[in-house]
Amino acid sequence: MATLRDVIRSTHRILEAEDIPDPRLEAEVMVMSHMRMPRQDIFSNQENEVSALQERELAVTVKRRLTREPLAYILGIREFYGINLLVNSEVLIPRPETESLVEHALFMALMGMETTELAIADVGTGTGAIAINLALHLPAARIYAVDSSDSALDVAAYNIRTHNVADRVTLAKGDLLVPVPEPVDLIVANLPYLPTARIPTLQPEIQWEPKLALDGGEDGLDAIRRLLSQAPSKVKEQATILLELDPEQVPAVEELAKTYFPNATTSVEKDLAQLDRIFVISHGVGDD
Ligand SMILES: C[S@@+](CC[C@H](N)C(=O)[O-])C[C@H]1O[C@@H](n2cnc3c(N)ncnc32)[C@H](O)[C@@H]1O
Repeated sequence: MATLRDVIRSTHRILEAEDIPDPRLEAEVMVMSHMRMPRQDIFSNQENEVSALQERELAVTVKRRLTREPLAYILGIREFYGINLLVNSEVLIPRPETESLVEHALFMALMGMETTELAIADVGTGTGAIAINLALHLPAARIYAVDSSDSALDVAAYNIRTHNVADRVTLAKGDLLVPVPEPVDLIVANLPYLPTARIPTLQPEIQWEPKLALDGGEDGLDAIRRLLSQAPSKVKEQATILLELDPEQVPAVEELAKTYFPNATTSVEKDLAQLDRIFVISHGVGDD
């Protein structure tokens, strides 16, 4: 019978030969998932035997992965900001750069605002990744999690229940800020921001994700532009808006911010890769 060491090694080789990114890490994650073991245990139990059934199940996963289906969709789970989220092909797989958006939102909420009883809108919630983490870290906040996709909202609803935050996260179906029922203190949005023409040039895994979650129109800014046009009537006087974007979009969003919020201050925060990723519109945004 094969050992854990053998199956990790052989899985790594197969993935590497087919140019799957991060083949060693993916081999470990696949084995860990099929053996139902925490990651640290696969290193300390390398001589454990792998059953024939487990090997067969692993082979099915590897076969799917070689079609370039993202591993998160195959396993049905993704870790994001320390929590596990259900994912399927109806939702964007939450990205590490969006963890920086959560971090900045928490920083703003905890340090920069006068009340802890914040009303927050997470626009384009997908899996609920942002809304759930904000709810877990801000126990007095109430959060509206909006998406226009019914199937994304089903996934978000499952994740919200699993993390026991359904009492404070309200799901809303609709276009951007339209279904948000009250002016909010904080808007957090990771909306689709890829220019349409760029999508087919990106890696095969991205082609599995919903176009509604990726496609931001010709310049990538369709959704952000409309969000900012809706926002003046949906924020309180001292509010903050945090938008995830592509570094190249910063000047265009700066112009949009000036148009809709001429009295606000703006700044740009970096993601973990030190790229300009989060556009911040703050203080007095509702004063106009
Ligand atoms: C880039 S994904 C982000 C998902 C999640 N917030 C995350 O960061 O992982 C964008 C989400 O916005 C939703 N969306 C796209 N257009 C929308 C619109 N007009 N109104 C509300 N949601 C929209 C998509 O369905 C998708 O779930």
